[in-house]
Amino acid sequence: MSNTLFPLGGPVAEDDIVDREDFLKSIQTRLADGQSIMLTGPRRIGKTSLALETLRQLKKQGFYVASVDFFRVSTKQELATAIIDACLENRTGIHRTMDALKEGIKSVTSATKLAMKLKGLEFSLNLPDKNTSDDILLSYALDLPEKLAVVDKKQTIVVFDEFQDAARIVGDDVFKLMRSHFQLHTKANYLFLGSKEGIMNTIFAGPDQAFYRFATILPLPPISPLAWTTYIKRKFGDQGIKCKDQVIHEIIKISGGHPQDTMLICSETYYLLLETGEKTLTLDSVQLGTNRALASLTPVFDGILDELGAAKRILTRLIQKQSIYEKGTHPTEIKRKVDMLINKGIIEKTDHGTYVFVEPMLKEYLQREY
Ligand SMILES: Nc1ncnc2c1ncn2[C@@H]1O[C@H](COP(=O)(O)OP(=O)(O)O)[C@@H](O)[C@H]1O
Ligand SMILES: [Mg+2]
Repeated sequence: MSNTLFPLGGPVAEDDIVDREDFLKSIQTRLADGQSIMLTGPRRIGKTSLALETLRQLKKQGFYVASVDFFRVSTKQELATAIIDACLENRTGIHRTMDALKEGIKSVTSATKLAMKLKGLEFSLNLPDKNTSDDILLSYALDLPEKLAVVDKKQTIVVFDEFQDAARIVGDDVFKLMRSHFQLHTKANYLFLGSKEGIMNTIFAGPDQAFYRFATILPLPPISPLAWTTYIKRKFGDQGIKCKDQVIHEIIKISGGHPQDTMLICSETYYLLLETGEKTLTLDSVQLGTNRALASLTPVFDGILDELGAAKRILTRLIQKQSIYEKGTHPTEIKRKVDMLINKGIIEKTDHGTYVFVEPMLKEYLQREY
């Protein structure tokens, strides 16, 4: 977690979460009631921040919580260990209980103490040893949230972040495997997050898919301009920097209120003011801050555009305000590309049937570069 004035690039602390009170309340209520939830959206829009804040609040209310990020694991055994560690932390209070157990073998007293804390969980000190296959370990891990919840009479809420990556780690059957465990759970429920919208929607909304109807799919609402204005004013104000609402509105107009892009423009503009010693936020400084923000987004945007391949052409046509349909390309081919851009969270269809960029800064970048 970053200590900068405007936090960037990872889950943000409670104080810097702008405008999510209602949505947080709604997620918490549903989770507490035993529902499982799926949230999907492109990277950098605040899914992880929201999920971790949800867990912080639920933990305060006495729930057991666990969080596993599939980005951070690459093998079946690592995944199983991550789930087990996240669950056991509720009992042991330490991050990596599995490592501690292995280490602890050297010191019999601490190992015994730790083992005591794992009572009732059918947990063997030797897990995982060479006799425990990765499949057995994973199977144990997948049932641990429920086991823990039942033994301790504590509802357990588990976050699985970048869930679509499970297939990369375990193989395509992983979702069937997980569902076969989770559907029997009555005291553990789940919040699934994923940044690959197309895959996440398939996993959870495809009638022939393992997680069909297992979780409620909630759309992530945008952050309101008013909430941004209040937040930005407070943050600059705390540093003795004056800012008129009109200038803040310009920031929000450029970023479209996109969570990380808004933070980034604020951050770059703030450093600019620090460098020049100015104590007022001006339109000029915002403009310069935006240029710097765009420069730092270059690798991100290039990465996104690279993945799009030929569908990039649709974006340039949108920018040039041309019809997306063109001579020589079959309409179904165009439609396929448009669907892909929507699935990837690059564009969305408005009520008027037109297409707009989800991230205005990407549009700005394309306008400047292409
Ligand atoms: N509610 C929010 N309020 C303010 N900034 C946010 C919010 N959510 C996300 N951000 C910004 O976006 C960045 C990425 O957030 P993160 O939760 O990691 O997104 P995701 O998990 O969707 O990739 C954060 O570091 C922060 O700069
Ligand atoms: Mg995330």
